[in-house]
Amino acid sequence: MVNTKVTLSGLELDNPVIPASGTFGFGYEFAELYDINCLGSIALKGTTREPRFGNPTPRIAECTEGLINSVGLQNPGVDKVISEELPKLAKVFHKPAVANISGFSVEDYVVTCEKLDKEDQIGLLEVNISCPNVHNGGMSFGTDPDSAAEVTRAVKAVTTKPVYMKLSPNVTDIAEIACACKEAGADGISLINTLMGMRISLTTKRPVIANKMGGFSGPAIFPVAVRMVWQVYEATGLPIIGMGGVQSAEDVLELMLAGATAVEVGAANLVDPLASKRIVEDLPAAMERYGFTSLTDMIGGAH
Ligand code: FUM
Repeated sequence: MVNTKVTLSGLELDNPVIPASGTFGFGYEFAELYDINCLGSIALKGTTREPRFGNPTPRIAECTEGLINSVGLQNPGVDKVISEELPKLAKVFHKPAVANISGFSVEDYVVTCEKLDKEDQIGLLEVNISCPNVHNGGMSFGTDPDSAAEVTRAVKAVTTKPVYMKLSPNVTDIAEIACACKEAGADGISLINTLMGMRISLTTKRPVIANKMGGFSGPAIFPVAVRMVWQVYEATGLPIIGMGGVQSAEDVLELMLAGATAVEVGAANLVDPLASKRIVEDLPAAMERYGFTSLTDMIGGAH
């Protein structure tokens, strides 16, 4: 009998598998397909202070071993998330969820986090300073250590729940950004968000995506995720939610050996809506196959 439980800053999860923000809606949509209580938690759709319609279409470009998206943080805004989306989720999911928060100013992050922090359903705040698809915000906070620290400090000042800063891989030195977040009080780090990418249509001779560039995710970026989780674990020792191209229980184990305490599954949900469930179900057998009896005991085991 293996033990799949892990603990993220005091939040105990039955298993480390969490569908990633932006690939699983507000969770309840998937409850029509299976009992989502099998998941460790759910990272909810990225939420902003005001409602957002998102970017013009086309927003998706298919690639070998992945896809590029430029959704542009489409969401109903924090007030509607609290009044409409969370109650729908509460009917079908009985565990704490991860709120994912984006902003265009430090004040935006503060207001949105402060509101979500008051919700009992939310167990952890994942502060997204790494969205590549918006101007004047998003990734610009996550590619500069001082800006990353400023957002972290401001959010920590108004919240009581664990704050995990979601970082961008589109930087030269990921450890520098992670250390800045740690010094500013972050409880943990989530990484990696998408890599900037682009496709051009040979038919139209124009970029496939209306916004020209977008965020590349899927299995092709998994080795980058393993490398960055490893580097952030070494540099900070903070708990990490690892993600980036995870497709299987074996990928979960690999990211945990690199230093992740929990693992988000992203693009795989878009290819197969049952992907996260399958990974949860496959995990015990994969642990036995590779000789792991406790997930908690193997975190960072490759160092
Ligand atoms: O375009 C988007 O909504 C993507 C968000 C993200 O990658 O953080």
